[in-house]
Amino acid sequence: MSIRRLPEHLVNRIAAGEVVERPASALKELVENAIDAGAARISVSLAQGGIGRVEVADDGCGMAPAEIALALERHATSKLPTDSLDEVVTLGFRGEALPSIASVARVTIESRVRGADGWSRIVDNGRLAAEGPAALPPGTRVTVENLFAKVPARRKFLRSERSEYAACLDVVKRLAMARPDLGFMLEHEGRRTLHVQPGEDRPARVAALTDRELAGNSLAVDYARGPVRLGGVAGLPTFNRGVADHQYLFVNGRPVKDRLLIGAVRAAYQDLLARDRHPVLALFIDLPGDEVDVNVHPAKTEVRFRDPGGIRGLIVGGLRHALDEAGHRSAQRPNAAALGNWQAEPVRSPSFPPRAPGQASWLAPGQEALVRDRQENYAAPLQARAEPAIAAVPEAQSFPLGVARGQVAATYIVAEAEDGLVLVDQHAAHERLVLERMRRAMADGGVARQALLLPEVVELDEPACDRIEARLDELAELGLELERFGPRAILVRATPAMLGAGDVGGLVTDLADELASFDSALSLKEKIDLVAATMACHGSVRAGRILSVAEMNALLREMEVTPHSGQCNHGRPTWVKLAHGDIEKLFGRK
Ligand SMILES: Nc1ncnc2c1ncn2[C@@H]1O[C@H](COP(=O)(O)OP(=O)(O)OP(=O)(O)O)[C@@H](O)[C@H]1O
Ligand SMILES: [Mg+2]
Repeated sequence: MSIRRLPEHLVNRIAAGEVVERPASALKELVENAIDAGAARISVSLAQGGIGRVEVADDGCGMAPAEIALALERHATSKLPTDSLDEVVTLGFRGEALPSIASVARVTIESRVRGADGWSRIVDNGRLAAEGPAALPPGTRVTVENLFAKVPARRKFLRSERSEYAACLDVVKRLAMARPDLGFMLEHEGRRTLHVQPGEDRPARVAALTDRELAGNSLAVDYARGPVRLGGVAGLPTFNRGVADHQYLFVNGRPVKDRLLIGAVRAAYQDLLARDRHPVLALFIDLPGDEVDVNVHPAKTEVRFRDPGGIRGLIVGGLRHALDEAGHRSAQRPNAAALGNWQAEPVRSPSFPPRAPGQASWLAPGQEALVRDRQENYAAPLQARAEPAIAAVPEAQSFPLGVARGQVAATYIVAEAEDGLVLVDQHAAHERLVLERMRRAMADGGVARQALLLPEVVELDEPACDRIEARLDELAELGLELERFGPRAILVRATPAMLGAGDVGGLVTDLADELASFDSALSLKEKIDLVAATMACHGSVRAGRILSVAEMNALLREMEVTPHSGQCNHGRPTWVKLAHGDIEKLFGRK
């Protein structure tokens, strides 16, 4: 077999196979080039999801005619002034993108250096098609048309225009997030779908590109370890999503999709979110060039860290730090849809038939008293206890979660805060408090117990008793003092003091069930969230239990000082606030 050197056009097409997978990957290269060219504003225009046309115009440094020709050659780059790959400060550096794209599409490059004339060069599937003078403002415009039109094997793999467009939008979003100092515009089929002005700050830009509500539901992250820095915006756990698509990660200003980073984010939110929920966040890692290799992936979307463990620690530590600081905060406001429902709920009076015109009353004489009586009874089952809370407790002003004013459906605490009305899910909140208290107590050597006046006997089947018996020491550390009591019973001597007088029998029965599903090799400490949830379910503050005003206020005060009390163990909010402004809106006063 004889070896031969491949012709340039074939080499480029092979490279294109790695660099240009779909319109969005060509778009990414073009926008990165515009950023590297020092542009302040970058405009993108797409047709047919980018399959028909991708056009990127910038006001950057531009290229002279000879440079345009060189730019289309393989391994020609202006971005590696020295031969070191450790000092890359630009997004591009391989000198491959333009020749690769031009080998599988029709590419027009028009460019003008300030103070000189413009020039254009058209390359169609690797062959020069035309060149000549061009009129345009200083900067560069690159147009890619009919991607893969002559490479049917690749074209087949393109998805619908709609999903190719979605991928293009994602590319622009990520790059726009990385560079809030630049302006970006995107239009598809003549319709403008993204527009951000230059000179925004990072949180504003992230919110503009993800969700406006993120601004009020996120934390600033700013954390450093040695020369490595973690910054950005992390959504509160309660502001979660069903997919992980809303996580934007950047390394030295480069958008990356990296398993290590995604795993670290998951670990940081682990016990604040249910398994199938994902936080919304944008994280920026900045580190010295020799700590990271950006040249491990042709499209440069993956990186390799010299110290992956350290980076993971930085992310988990930085996020936990920010989330701990958040304390009791959760998504502060009910989401717009929930508020809308409230607003839309028609006010209905108890069903009276419509009154005929001219009819003075619906009722026959004597029936009115009956109705009055019924109406009074309608009110009775609503357990909105309005105890005289006002006199008994201090002023609302001093507490973020306010002062308890009553309880609804024996499940929600209604509190008045300085800036609005707070609703607390008492059970979810208590479950969280129990978990956090247990964590703290375990760290301090064990959970305080409270002896029962009379030990309680709980009857269980034999395997359940065996499972409990095998864990007696561990359960004692968690505040439960139990003893085997014959083949089919357990004696309860003490329960965790933090639970109050709860349902002891139910607790032990449920724990025995829970233990059946645990791997016996795992310590209960590793499953403490499940144990705590089970305990909380049988504690004194359950859903459906009437609380005294003092109990309610005690719960609110504890939430205020407990980390992560803003969400339950499954990431749902434990409280929401209806701000005064929202209340006014509901009544049409605003
Ligand atoms: N929009 C632009 N404005 C000014 N110069 C540009 C522009 N786009 C490309 N160039 C020039 O063309 C060269 C080649 O671009 P190309 O994208 O092919 O390679 P690169 O950006 O150097 O590296 P990579 O392959 O990693 O993207 C660049 O190094 C740059 O000098
Ligand atoms: Mg490039």
